[in-house]
Amino acid sequence: MIVAENLEQTYLSGGRPLTVLKNISLAIEPQGFVAVVGPSGSGKTTLLGLLAGLDRPTAGTVRLDGQDLNALTEDQRAAFRAARIGFVFQTFQLIPTLTALENVLVPLELKPGGRNGDDEQHARQLLERVGLGDRQHHYPAQLSGGEQQRVGVARAFANRPKILFADEPTGSLDTETGSGVIDLLVELNREEATTMLLVTHDPELAARAGRIVRLAGGTIVSNERIGT
Ligand SMILES: Nc1ncnc2c1ncn2[C@@H]1O[C@H](COP(=O)(O)OP(=O)(O)OP(=O)(O)O)[C@@H](O)[C@H]1O
Ligand SMILES: [Mg+2]
Repeated sequence: MIVAENLEQTYLSGGRPLTVLKNISLAIEPQGFVAVVGPSGSGKTTLLGLLAGLDRPTAGTVRLDGQDLNALTEDQRAAFRAARIGFVFQTFQLIPTLTALENVLVPLELKPGGRNGDDEQHARQLLERVGLGDRQHHYPAQLSGGEQQRVGVARAFANRPKILFADEPTGSLDTETGSGVIDLLVELNREEATTMLLVTHDPELAARAGRIVRLAGGTIVSNERIGT
Protein backbone atom coordinates (compact mmCIF):
# COMPACT_ATOMS: atom_id res chain seq x y z
CA MET A 1 0.00 0.00 0.00
CA ILE A 2 2.92 2.32 0.85
CA VAL A 3 6.25 1.56 -0.83
CA ALA A 4 9.25 3.88 -0.48
CA GLU A 5 12.55 3.23 -2.21
CA ASN A 6 15.81 4.99 -1.39
CA LEU A 7 14.21 8.23 -0.27
CA GLU A 8 16.47 11.14 0.41
CA GLN A 9 15.60 14.66 1.47
CA THR A 10 18.18 17.45 1.36
CA TYR A 11 17.39 21.05 2.29
CA LEU A 12 19.43 24.11 1.53
CA SER A 13 20.10 25.76 4.83
CA GLY A 14 22.07 29.00 4.82
CA GLY A 15 23.30 28.11 1.34
CA ARG A 16 24.57 24.68 2.44
CA PRO A 17 22.96 21.35 1.70
CA LEU A 18 21.63 19.57 4.77
CA THR A 19 20.57 15.96 4.30
CA VAL A 20 17.84 15.15 6.81
CA LEU A 21 16.71 11.77 5.39
CA LYS A 22 18.70 9.18 3.47
CA ASN A 23 18.49 5.53 2.36
CA ILE A 24 14.86 5.23 3.40
CA SER A 25 13.19 2.13 1.99
CA LEU A 26 10.09 0.60 3.46
CA ALA A 27 6.94 -1.25 2.51
CA ILE A 28 3.67 -1.17 4.43
CA GLU A 29 1.00 -3.70 3.59
CA PRO A 30 -2.67 -2.77 3.09
CA GLN A 31 -4.43 -2.23 6.44
CA GLY A 32 -1.06 -2.11 8.17
CA PHE A 33 -0.76 -0.06 11.35
CA VAL A 34 2.75 1.31 11.70
CA ALA A 35 4.24 3.57 14.36
CA VAL A 36 7.26 5.74 13.50
CA VAL A 37 9.38 6.62 16.51
CA GLY A 38 12.71 8.36 17.07
CA PRO A 39 14.30 11.38 18.71
CA SER A 40 13.36 14.98 17.95
CA GLY A 41 14.96 16.06 14.69
CA SER A 42 15.42 12.50 13.39
CA GLY A 43 13.25 13.18 10.34
CA LYS A 44 9.84 11.74 11.31
CA THR A 45 7.73 14.68 10.13
CA THR A 46 9.84 15.02 6.97
CA LEU A 47 9.30 11.32 6.20
CA LEU A 48 5.53 11.56 6.68
CA GLY A 49 5.38 14.57 4.36
CA LEU A 50 7.20 12.66 1.61
CA LEU A 51 5.14 9.47 2.02
CA ALA A 52 1.88 11.43 1.90
CA GLY A 53 2.93 13.40 -1.18
CA LEU A 54 2.88 16.75 0.62
CA ASP A 55 6.52 17.26 -0.37
CA ARG A 56 8.70 15.83 -3.10
CA PRO A 57 11.86 13.94 -2.20
CA THR A 58 15.30 15.04 -3.43
CA ALA A 59 15.77 11.44 -4.58
CA GLY A 60 13.89 8.15 -4.47
CA THR A 61 10.33 7.08 -5.12
CA VAL A 62 7.08 6.68 -3.22
CA ARG A 63 4.25 4.50 -4.46
CA LEU A 64 0.88 4.79 -2.72
CA ASP A 65 -1.82 2.31 -3.61
CA GLY A 66 0.21 1.49 -6.74
CA GLN A 67 0.60 5.12 -7.85
CA ASP A 68 4.11 6.54 -8.30
CA LEU A 69 3.86 10.02 -6.77
CA ASN A 70 6.78 11.31 -8.89
CA ALA A 71 4.67 10.70 -11.99
CA LEU A 72 2.02 13.20 -10.84
CA THR A 73 1.97 16.98 -11.16
CA GLU A 74 1.37 19.00 -8.01
CA ASP A 75 -2.33 19.39 -8.87
CA GLN A 76 -2.65 15.67 -9.55
CA ARG A 77 -1.00 14.89 -6.22
CA ALA A 78 -3.47 17.21 -4.47
CA ALA A 79 -6.39 15.42 -6.14
CA PHE A 80 -4.91 12.04 -5.23
CA ARG A 81 -4.57 13.12 -1.59
CA ALA A 82 -8.11 14.50 -1.50
CA ALA A 83 -9.51 11.18 -2.73
CA ARG A 84 -7.47 8.76 -0.62
CA ILE A 85 -5.37 10.30 2.11
CA GLY A 86 -5.98 11.72 5.56
CA PHE A 87 -3.28 13.67 7.40
CA VAL A 88 -3.11 14.79 11.04
CA PHE A 89 -0.50 17.56 11.29
CA GLN A 90 1.83 17.92 14.28
CA THR A 91 1.00 21.64 14.26
CA PHE A 92 -2.75 21.05 13.60
CA GLN A 93 -2.95 23.42 10.56
CA LEU A 94 -6.58 24.33 11.11
CA ILE A 95 -7.96 27.20 9.04
CA PRO A 96 -8.40 30.07 11.55
CA THR A 97 -11.38 31.67 9.81
CA LEU A 98 -13.43 28.45 9.83
CA THR A 99 -15.26 26.86 12.77
CA ALA A 100 -14.41 23.38 14.00
CA LEU A 101 -17.26 21.91 11.96
CA GLU A 102 -16.27 23.86 8.84
CA ASN A 103 -12.66 22.71 9.22
CA VAL A 104 -13.79 19.06 9.32
CA LEU A 105 -15.88 19.68 6.21
CA VAL A 106 -12.92 21.01 4.17
CA PRO A 107 -11.76 17.59 2.84
CA LEU A 108 -15.35 16.81 1.90
CA GLU A 109 -15.56 19.99 -0.19
CA LEU A 110 -12.36 18.94 -1.98
CA LYS A 111 -13.38 15.40 -2.84
CA PRO A 112 -14.40 14.57 -6.41
CA GLY A 113 -18.00 15.66 -6.89
CA GLY A 114 -17.93 17.91 -3.81
CA ARG A 115 -20.11 17.68 -0.73
CA ASN A 116 -23.28 15.67 -0.53
CA GLY A 117 -26.22 15.74 1.87
CA ASP A 118 -24.80 13.27 4.40
CA ASP A 119 -21.45 14.99 4.81
CA GLU A 120 -22.42 17.47 7.49
CA GLN A 121 -23.94 14.69 9.58
CA HIS A 122 -20.76 12.63 9.13
CA ALA A 123 -18.59 15.61 10.19
CA ARG A 124 -20.74 16.20 13.29
CA GLN A 125 -20.45 12.53 14.24
CA LEU A 126 -16.67 12.68 13.91
CA LEU A 127 -16.52 15.71 16.19
CA GLU A 128 -18.71 13.86 18.69
CA ARG A 129 -16.40 10.85 18.54
CA VAL A 130 -13.41 13.02 19.47
CA GLY A 131 -15.41 14.53 22.34
CA LEU A 132 -16.13 17.90 20.72
CA GLY A 133 -19.86 17.65 20.07
CA ASP A 134 -20.36 20.89 22.01
CA ARG A 135 -17.51 22.81 20.32
CA GLN A 136 -18.62 22.58 16.69
CA HIS A 137 -19.07 26.31 16.20
CA HIS A 138 -15.88 27.39 17.95
CA TYR A 139 -13.06 28.91 15.91
CA PRO A 140 -9.55 27.47 16.38
CA ALA A 141 -8.46 30.45 18.52
CA GLN A 142 -11.34 29.63 20.90
CA LEU A 143 -10.18 26.04 21.36
CA SER A 144 -7.45 24.61 23.59
CA GLY A 145 -4.43 22.97 21.96
CA GLY A 146 -5.75 19.49 22.64
CA GLU A 147 -9.17 20.43 21.26
CA GLN A 148 -7.54 21.77 18.07
CA GLN A 149 -5.61 18.52 17.77
CA ARG A 150 -8.86 16.55 18.03
CA VAL A 151 -10.46 18.71 15.32
CA GLY A 152 -7.41 17.83 13.20
CA VAL A 153 -8.01 14.13 13.85
CA ALA A 154 -11.70 14.43 12.93
CA ARG A 155 -10.79 16.32 9.74
CA ALA A 156 -8.29 13.63 8.72
CA PHE A 157 -11.02 10.98 8.94
CA ALA A 158 -13.63 13.04 7.07
CA ASN A 159 -12.99 11.70 3.55
CA ARG A 160 -12.84 8.08 4.80
CA PRO A 161 -9.20 7.83 3.73
CA LYS A 162 -7.65 4.61 2.50
CA ILE A 163 -4.39 5.76 4.05
CA LEU A 164 -4.11 7.85 7.20
CA PHE A 165 -0.93 9.65 8.22
CA ALA A 166 -0.84 11.14 11.71
CA ASP A 167 2.02 13.14 13.20
CA GLU A 168 1.92 12.76 16.99
CA PRO A 169 -1.89 12.72 17.06
CA THR A 170 -1.98 12.42 20.85
CA GLY A 171 0.95 14.78 21.50
CA SER A 172 -1.18 17.52 23.08
CA LEU A 173 -3.65 15.27 24.90
CA ASP A 174 -3.86 14.02 28.48
CA THR A 175 -3.77 10.25 28.98
CA GLU A 176 -7.52 9.75 29.06
CA THR A 177 -8.34 11.94 26.06
CA GLY A 178 -5.37 10.44 24.22
CA SER A 179 -6.71 6.93 24.87
CA GLY A 180 -10.03 7.94 23.32
CA VAL A 181 -8.26 9.18 20.18
CA ILE A 182 -6.16 5.99 20.05
CA ASP A 183 -9.34 3.88 20.28
CA LEU A 184 -10.78 5.89 17.40
CA LEU A 185 -7.67 5.34 15.26
CA VAL A 186 -7.69 1.60 15.97
CA GLU A 187 -11.43 1.40 15.16
CA LEU A 188 -10.90 3.17 11.86
CA ASN A 189 -8.02 0.87 11.01
CA ARG A 190 -10.35 -2.13 11.57
CA GLU A 191 -13.75 -0.86 10.41
CA GLU A 192 -12.68 0.99 7.29
CA ALA A 193 -9.58 -1.15 6.55
CA THR A 194 -7.48 2.00 6.62
CA THR A 195 -3.71 1.74 6.33
CA MET A 196 -2.18 3.87 9.08
CA LEU A 197 1.25 5.34 9.62
CA LEU A 198 1.69 7.46 12.66
CA VAL A 199 4.48 9.23 14.46
CA THR A 200 4.34 8.99 18.21
CA HIS A 201 6.26 9.35 21.43
CA ASP A 202 3.32 7.77 23.25
CA PRO A 203 4.13 4.20 24.40
CA GLU A 204 0.42 3.30 24.64
CA LEU A 205 -0.11 4.27 21.02
CA ALA A 206 3.08 2.58 19.74
CA ALA A 207 2.05 -0.61 21.54
CA ARG A 208 -1.19 -0.76 19.54
CA ALA A 209 0.67 -0.77 16.21
CA GLY A 210 1.64 -3.93 14.33
CA ARG A 211 5.05 -2.59 13.37
CA ILE A 212 7.47 -0.03 14.75
CA VAL A 213 9.87 1.85 12.46
CA ARG A 214 12.62 3.62 14.37
CA LEU A 215 14.47 6.60 12.89
CA ALA A 216 17.71 8.13 14.09
CA GLY A 217 19.73 10.78 12.30
CA GLY A 218 17.60 10.53 9.17
CA THR A 219 17.85 6.78 8.59
CA ILE A 220 15.82 3.74 9.62
CA VAL A 221 17.67 1.98 12.41
CA SER A 222 15.05 -0.71 13.02
CA ASN A 223 11.81 -1.93 11.49
CA GLU A 224 10.17 -4.62 13.57
CA ARG A 225 6.87 -6.36 13.65
CA ILE A 226 5.37 -6.42 17.15
CA GLY A 227 2.50 -8.20 18.85
CA THR A 228 1.01 -11.39 17.43
N1 LIG B 1 12.30 23.12 5.42
C1 LIG B 1 13.43 22.78 6.09
N2 LIG B 1 14.60 23.39 5.83
C2 LIG B 1 15.72 23.05 6.49
N3 LIG B 1 15.79 22.09 7.43
C3 LIG B 1 14.64 21.45 7.75
C4 LIG B 1 13.41 21.75 7.10
N4 LIG B 1 12.44 20.97 7.61
C5 LIG B 1 13.06 20.20 8.54
N5 LIG B 1 14.38 20.48 8.63
C6 LIG B 1 15.35 19.82 9.52
O1 LIG B 1 15.22 18.43 9.29
C7 LIG B 1 15.42 17.71 10.50
C8 LIG B 1 14.26 16.74 10.69
O2 LIG B 1 13.07 17.48 10.99
P1 LIG B 1 11.69 16.78 11.33
O3 LIG B 1 10.69 17.86 11.53
O4 LIG B 1 11.41 15.77 10.27
O5 LIG B 1 12.04 16.05 12.70
P2 LIG B 1 11.10 15.18 13.67
O6 LIG B 1 11.72 13.83 13.81
O7 LIG B 1 9.70 15.25 13.20
O8 LIG B 1 11.26 15.95 15.07
P3 LIG B 1 10.17 16.23 16.26
O9 LIG B 1 10.08 14.96 17.06
O10 LIG B 1 10.83 17.34 17.02
O11 LIG B 1 8.88 16.63 15.62
C9 LIG B 1 15.54 18.73 11.61
O12 LIG B 1 16.91 18.81 11.97
C10 LIG B 1 15.07 20.02 10.97
O13 LIG B 1 15.77 21.12 11.50
MG1 LIG C 1 8.00 16.11 13.95
